[in-house]
Amino acid sequence: MKKRLVVAIILGALSVILGFFLDDKDVRNWSRDELKLLKSLSLQNLPPVPDDPSNTHANDEGAAQLGHALYFDVRTSRNGSVSCASCHKPEKYFTDGLKLAVGTNVGPRHTPSLVGISYSPWFYWDGRKDSQWSQALAPIEARHEHNSSRLKIAQLIASDETYRSRYEKIFGALPPIPVSPENASPLGDEENLRGWDNLTDIQKTSVTKVFTNVGKALAAYQRKLIPGQSRFDFYINELNEEGLKSSAHLTPDEVAGLELFIGQAQCVSCHNGPLLTNHEFHNTGVLTISGQLPAMGRYDGVRQAREDPFNCLSALSDAAEDDCLELTFAQDSNDLVGAQKTPTLRNVAETAPYMHGGQIENLLEVVKHYNQAPTSLLSHNEAKPLDLKISQITQLESLMYAFTAPLATEPKWLRPPNSAYSGSANTQTTPP
Ligand code: HEC
Ligand code: HEC
Repeated sequence: MKKRLVVAIILGALSVILGFFLDDKDVRNWSRDELKLLKSLSLQNLPPVPDDPSNTHANDEGAAQLGHALYFDVRTSRNGSVSCASCHKPEKYFTDGLKLAVGTNVGPRHTPSLVGISYSPWFYWDGRKDSQWSQALAPIEARHEHNSSRLKIAQLIASDETYRSRYEKIFGALPPIPVSPENASPLGDEENLRGWDNLTDIQKTSVTKVFTNVGKALAAYQRKLIPGQSRFDFYINELNEEGLKSSAHLTPDEVAGLELFIGQAQCVSCHNGPLLTNHEFHNTGVLTISGQLPAMGRYDGVRQAREDPFNCLSALSDAAEDDCLELTFAQDSNDLVGAQKTPTLRNVAETAPYMHGGQIENLLEVVKHYNQAPTSLLSHNEAKPLDLKISQITQLESLMYAFTAPLATEPKWLRPPNSAYSGSANTQTTPP
């Protein structure tokens, strides 16, 4: 009896001592440098959305309202079934949950989130668009997305009384828009091309102008989509000079994940700033999308942006030449072969699957991918193998669940406006 008691007391004492050491490790403080880095990741340090000199209506409330209505309007597609919201669904943080996007057909890429996208200097995984308004024009005419044409969009603005009057308040009097043919554009299928050939030069200019302004309104709307503060931000905001690691906001595993994120795993070298992206292009050795050739990524994207008739330097842009330095001095090198844009990690737990082709199904597999850092088929993988233990892999995974929060956007922007044409069959209206 006595012996057992002594053993029990010794064991008890040992566990208290051990517990003390473990606790002590748990509350070890962040260093000064770590604190500084952590603070730079908080949404408290997110500046206002940067101005877009190429779109003088970017911050115009009326333009945002027009863009809001158009964003949800299925009449922006040729067959009347696709809107921007078909793929960028508000209730899925403006993604669609699919590997590859489906509009009027299956497309070649995975749908990225639009939350916080207005901070990005480049658009698309390969950055082939240099403004948000010029990006917005592309899906409307892409055959697998809206499969519509610039003439059909101009006709929609001209024929819908609400659109027409809103448009004219913002952009001035609508030029005469031909009522036939139904479709015309220098891009797309035979019907579009034939229609375009039959327009006069003046008609072509007017139609393209109206189409451009539709893009500028869509951009003004998307500038409202801003991420909200998550547990991750609350944790960082509460850290003071002492930088205590334990807190009610993050679990010990999540804190350990954060330590890896900014330390050994070096996620922060690309996923940095309050949006957890450097907005740059990197090759991270993601598998080629099945059935496709390896993606050239930014290597091709930068060329396309330079040649884009809607770029910052074009006559349709409102910018002066000096405002287009990002395009003029865009980096161009062989390193960009296979490089994709670093996506935000805000709300990432809600936007599976992942990567430019939706190649990776869940966050655990994403961390395993980085841990292995497979060789890239094209060019080289910038990320190096991490040599993490399985427990560390799950800690990094669990951290990414702490990046989720309701948007800091007025709820009215997350619902379709009242219109008979809003939303398609697969678009629900519950905001996140
Ligand atoms: C068929 C589904 C689909 C539709 C419809 C669609 N998109 Fe997209 N969107 C995508 C996909 C897929 C990508 C990525 C394509 C790529 O990078 O090549 C994308 C990319 C974008 C981007 C760039 C995001 C980034 O990370 O750079 C923006 C902005 C955007 N879409 C806005 C819109 C707007 C506005 C509309 C309506 C005019 C729209 N989209 C319609 C699927 C869609
Ligand atoms: C060298 C820069 C770089 C580093 C380092 C890096 N990432 Fe990424 N990350 C990217 C790029 C680029 C993509 C998109 C790649 C693609 O689609 O092919 C990406 C995609 C992701 C995605 C998918 C997001 C989405 O919406 O599809 C997640 C999650 C992610 N990274 C997490 C991490 C974590 C965790 C680490 C650290 C272990 C890390 N990243 C390290 C650049 C980087």
